[in-house]
Amino acid sequence: MTAALEPTGVAVTVRAPAKINLHLGVGPVRPDGFHPLATVYQAIGLYDDVTATPAAPGDGWSVHTIADASIDLATVADDETNLAVRAGRLLAAHHGRDDLAAHLEIHKGIPVAGGMAGGSADAAATLVAVDRLFDLRTSDDDLLALAAQLGSDVPFALIGGTAVGTGRGEVVEPVADATEPWWVVVPHEIGLSTPLVYRRFDELVERSDGIVPADPGQLADLVALLRAGDGARLGAHLHNDLTVPAYDLRPDLAERAALLDELGPVLLSGSGPTQLVLSESAEEARAAAARLTQEGIAHWLVPAPVAGAHVVDIL
Ligand code: C5P
Repeated sequence: MTAALEPTGVAVTVRAPAKINLHLGVGPVRPDGFHPLATVYQAIGLYDDVTATPAAPGDGWSVHTIADASIDLATVADDETNLAVRAGRLLAAHHGRDDLAAHLEIHKGIPVAGGMAGGSADAAATLVAVDRLFDLRTSDDDLLALAAQLGSDVPFALIGGTAVGTGRGEVVEPVADATEPWWVVVPHEIGLSTPLVYRRFDELVERSDGIVPADPGQLADLVALLRAGDGARLGAHLHNDLTVPAYDLRPDLAERAALLDELGPVLLSGSGPTQLVLSESAEEARAAAARLTQEGIAHWLVPAPVAGAHVVDIL
């Protein structure tokens, strides 16, 4: 999160990671429309960078997003509805500084609508960048509380590493994870809407169709093996309650899972559509990646767990 560096007020770049859920247990929908979660987050080595610069005098908040051709930016908002702009405004308002405004340049390395909380990463990175840019000195507790207001996954993007998430996902408790897995990340060209997957989850629960809710003991076993650094048992403990509704909405994902299954334990990332293959070593991951290259399937090879939002450049 925040580090003891002097601000110069010109440009601050903050990097924030993608997340996956090693375990995602989903409970029945709450009156507020959210679902209670018992989850284990892990931050993986795919990142968005947000550079904040002060807005020109008289200008308000603005945002511009760039990415290489592998990431589709068609659905990314370029106005004040962008979650990163909402994060900047919220932080300024928290300090009673509605006079402050910044331009945010987002360089996306995390697929959009991929189930890896890219928008949440941008919000977390913006909180840290704007805090530093204007020397606001927000406490870590306040940053976490503001992050929770912005979205269920934003607090985790601040802390990174591995953490247990409860509430609607916004209550995070770090886990001393001694495993060092590699993930083969398989993105999909067509994104999947998170609310849509949760709605299908509700429908399937109502019909008692194919949903076997996670056993809370599973999460405790997973946390114990992570603490013990027992990577060999990790594959058998991956669990995601959103797999059934996501595959129900997108049968192509089930087909791809059957292929990926040959390479190692397969996990759907959050609400999907991104899928992951677990490897215990970089060597194993490279072999899986070579096979995907042969099949013409786009993928990235990334380590985990990695750090949460952190400053990478100050000008
Ligand atoms: O919190 P966030 O804005 O990221 O959530 C996006 C949507 O995902 C929510 O509007 C809701 O439909 C769904 N969601 C949920 N239960 C959660 C988290 C998200 O139903 N715990």
